Amino acid sequence: TVIGVLASGRGSNLQAIIDAIEAGRLAVTVGVVISDNPEANVLKRLAGSDIPAVCIDRRQFACRQDFEAAVAEELNVRHVELVVLAGFMRILGRYFIDRFAGKIMNIHPSLLPAFPGENAQLQALQYGVKVSGCTVHFVDEGMDTGPIILQEAVPVMEDDTEETLSERILHAEHILYPRALALYCEGRLCMDGRRVYIKKE
Ligand code: GRF
Repeated sequence: TVIGVLASGRGSNLQAIIDAIEAGRLAVTVGVVISDNPEANVLKRLAGSDIPAVCIDRRQFACRQDFEAAVAEELNVRHVELVVLAGFMRILGRYFIDRFAGKIMNIHPSLLPAFPGENAQLQALQYGVKVSGCTVHFVDEGMDTGPIILQEAVPVMEDDTEETLSERILHAEHILYPRALALYCEGRLCMDGRRVYIKKE
């Protein structure tokens, strides 16, 4: 399976995916990494690698649909079969979602449907939950509302700060995302409405 990764920032989830591929745990090819942000660390991370890294700067487009058309075109040129959002900080519109229907995944740093949107770890701390975690889900038009593929829980400790909780969740993310991608590539994810089932091997 050829995946295309969309990322806006640090790129640690992309790195975890690359590490899983190199370790032989994940049989995908990263066809392209696209960032909407020219300053993104994720682009610097790829300097010297053979993975194509492309910046498509949202500010150069008059409207969201033009931007998304450019992203979709790049993904098509690279023969991408699954779009992987990894810290991509933009909501995708209907136009894009329809073009890749059922073929877009995202990872979110909370146990959805709790704490969607930005600063999920801080939201969890402020709410006072004792358990949080991360969620890999298919993307629909809502904000972090699509069908859930995998979740992993992590404890919230009494002395946690936003940083320490985020770090604990991020560690779980780095294990969960490659696992979800592997299940997808092995054809083991089946959908029944909102429910995603994992077929036995
Ligand atoms: C992760 O916490 C992910 O859950 C969220 O954005 C962050 C991206 O981190 N969607 P990175 O760029 O993969 O390091």
